[in-house]
Amino acid sequence: MRRILLTKDKVFQGDLILVNADYAYRGNVWRKRVDMEGTTLAMEAAAALRRAMQSLNGWESIAAVSGWRSFEEQQAIWDESMRDNGEAFTRKYVAVPGHSEHQTGLAIDLGLRQEEIDFIRPDFPYEGICQTFRENAAEYGFVERYPAGKEKVTGIGHEPWHFRYVGTVHASLMQKEGMVMEEYVPYLKRFVHGKNPCRMELDGSETVVSFQKAEASGLTEIEVDETAEVSVSGNNVDGFVIAQYKRRK
Ligand code: DAL
Ligand code: ZN
Repeated sequence: MRRILLTKDKVFQGDLILVNADYAYRGNVWRKRVDMEGTTLAMEAAAALRRAMQSLNGWESIAAVSGWRSFEEQQAIWDESMRDNGEAFTRKYVAVPGHSEHQTGLAIDLGLRQEEIDFIRPDFPYEGICQTFRENAAEYGFVERYPAGKEKVTGIGHEPWHFRYVGTVHASLMQKEGMVMEEYVPYLKRFVHGKNPCRMELDGSETVVSFQKAEASGLTEIEVDETAEVSVSGNNVDGFVIAQYKRRK
């Protein structure tokens, strides 16, 4: 067994942080960002998106409309939309500044390349190459973040263009369970670390997912399998999600 010591600030960092109207983004600039087709993304998200696009020659027909945004940019988008589109539209399609996934560098708006691309609501239809991307997204660690039918749960309108990087394990599990992040993050709490983990077979890897509540003292210690690859993410609420995988030979 290997021990990992997690400080309180780690609750607000990682691939699986829940960022919405209830939970602000508190991580600030906590990971490296790289250029991505005219915008920027967190390094891991960019690498995964690059692989996904390579697999279908995607950048020929798909544009990266908006990736990482600073708080100030989100505020400017919000203000402009309030002025031009009114409050109802803005609340439906623009996250309150401080509460946008775009501030994490883990979200990307994609749009079909055409003469005019709408910045807030780009076209990303459920057919052709956009749909092919969507169908393969989980394999590369992305989920369609604001699907139709979940508007009341996410608090945001249906956004066919907005994808969120969560990593392949969580993207696959979310897809399998048909859950959005507002459902998935609390759902994981039943898989108590060291007691009741969720075990599955994923892409030839033995995968174990579990949840550990953050200690009130500010320091949380977990034990993980030293022979497994381990990733830990805060949930941006109250604890940590641990994923451990072992490749089968
Ligand atoms: N369009 C999404 C909700 C954002 O502004 O983050
Ligand atoms: Zn977006």
